[in-house]
Amino acid sequence: MIGTTLLLNPWLTAGASLRIGDYRKNVITLDEEMTPEDDVTRYNNFYEFGTGKTDPARYAKDFNTDDWKITVGGECEKPGEYSLEDLVRPFEIEERVYRLRCVEAWSMVIPWLGVPLESIIKSLQPTSKAKYVAFKTLHDPLRMPGQNRSVLRWPYREGLRLDEATNPLTLLAVGMYGKTMPNQNGAPVRLVIPWKYGFKSIKSIVSIDFVEQQPETTWNISNPREYGFYSNVNPAVDHPRWSQKKERRIGDIFKRKTLMFNGYGEEVAHLYNDMDLRANY
Ligand code: MTE
Repeated sequence: MIGTTLLLNPWLTAGASLRIGDYRKNVITLDEEMTPEDDVTRYNNFYEFGTGKTDPARYAKDFNTDDWKITVGGECEKPGEYSLEDLVRPFEIEERVYRLRCVEAWSMVIPWLGVPLESIIKSLQPTSKAKYVAFKTLHDPLRMPGQNRSVLRWPYREGLRLDEATNPLTLLAVGMYGKTMPNQNGAPVRLVIPWKYGFKSIKSIVSIDFVEQQPETTWNISNPREYGFYSNVNPAVDHPRWSQKKERRIGDIFKRKTLMFNGYGEEVAHLYNDMDLRANY
């Protein structure tokens, strides 16, 4: 009986380093069907655990994320090593349902749990020199076997302009479907930037740095012609090898039209008012 209770309690699953506890439900919702949890946790991109879509669910099973630490550095008043608990706990966890559009032209609708990155950034007090925020994933080939192959330059890195990072939509996510973040989806903490292609939403973050210059980002280093720094969802700018006009929502048979900024233009278009989005892809 006790064993059953433990199994059914989502907060006691192996590797959970943050108890979600109470959270504010339906802070942002969508009038679109959610993707079944089984699909979201079995069809993943997480190259640290293999390049196949089903590799992360299989090979990240025993990834231990207890006592997770995040190093904060660069142009801010509060640098240091933080436990995930210290960083996230001061803020209320919110449930937000967002579209996720992968650059590979598939999409999902996911109920995330997380804290607005804006709140955390404010608490870290960036200085006036901070123009960008740079993020890195854990680099530990013993725990992330995919890092033994040089398919990408490790650790995985991502970056945002400070105004993108503090846009109210940008989420530092610690869970989904009412539970702590599954390992294959980026446990214990990842970004979710719903108007950008999925690869900007970096998983298993261990460092946050406030910097003056545009930081290096993994896919841009790997293939700058195909993956730009901004990577806003844009049906008018094709990937050099395929069209971005349409996408396949996982579970659907027919493709649907891709929306500019993944449907979040009202919230984010102003960030790019003076920019040529073809040149700044
Ligand atoms: N973060 C890291 N560290 N490693 C990765 O391989 N893949 C990215 C992104 N974040 C990736 C990552 C890509 S390409 C996508 S589409 C999303 O994670 C997929 O997130 P999901 O598996 O939770 O759907």
